[in-house]
Amino acid sequence: MTESEKRKSRITTRTLQRMRDRGERITMLTAYDFPTAKILDEAGVDVLLVGDTVGMVVQGHSTTLPVTMDQMIYHAEMVGRAAEHAMVVVDLPFPDGQLDLLHSVRCGARVLKETQCHAVKLEGGAEQAERIEAMVGAGIPVMAHIGLRPQNIHVEGGYRLQRDIERLVADAKAAEAAGAFTVLIECVPSEAAAAITDAVKVPTIGIGAGRDVSGQVLVTHDILGLTSGYTPKFTRLFADVGNTIREAAKSYCDEVKAASFPSDAESFE
Ligand code: KIV
Repeated sequence: MTESEKRKSRITTRTLQRMRDRGERITMLTAYDFPTAKILDEAGVDVLLVGDTVGMVVQGHSTTLPVTMDQMIYHAEMVGRAAEHAMVVVDLPFPDGQLDLLHSVRCGARVLKETQCHAVKLEGGAEQAERIEAMVGAGIPVMAHIGLRPQNIHVEGGYRLQRDIERLVADAKAAEAAGAFTVLIECVPSEAAAAITDAVKVPTIGIGAGRDVSGQVLVTHDILGLTSGYTPKFTRLFADVGNTIREAAKSYCDEVKAASFPSDAESFE
């Protein structure tokens, strides 16, 4: 695909707004590396998220907090290179999305300058309005992340369903007014997500937020059975790739031990 063909077929902030306006549902999945991003892009996923969940599902941490900005850039570079059609959004990790405004703007600028990605995601609503405005003012599109905010885990005392509809709606409205192009809503009752979606004109993307939103996002490792242990109620196993890998590795070990791999055809004369 040429650069100009890529530009024409690329999902942008405007495409997402058009999809929301005509009621076409938006699809979003996480990606952290080139081959996975390429497959998801080819499958037609609208938005790829280089999420700081990389800390949990790839690095093996129990929270997203240890992930650094340099690590996000490293993963974003790979995903940005792979995606020809999808819009790619990159998380600002903790505490780069919480320190002074200028620092966050610089981090957002790094994403646009050093990777081929298109936007950043920032956890928070009303309390982040000024930061969102500063970033959008600097030419950095921002997706706001409200509801359950994993970077806030120690303030909340755990990952909890967020039920305060008034606060959630106020967060979404403040993010929209500050210039966020989309609001991601995590782990809220369906009724709250519906109220938020009604209250704003920008698209809403839900995770654990029911159906009454403009689109859905899930963690790719969760839907492929690549996580061990806890899987949230709101996810679904779409393919058991984890088990397929385990079986393939077992077959490989068996064949090597039985000296049936490599065969003559797989060897050089
Ligand atoms: O970091 C991430 O992958 C996310 C998803 C849970 C939406 O924010």
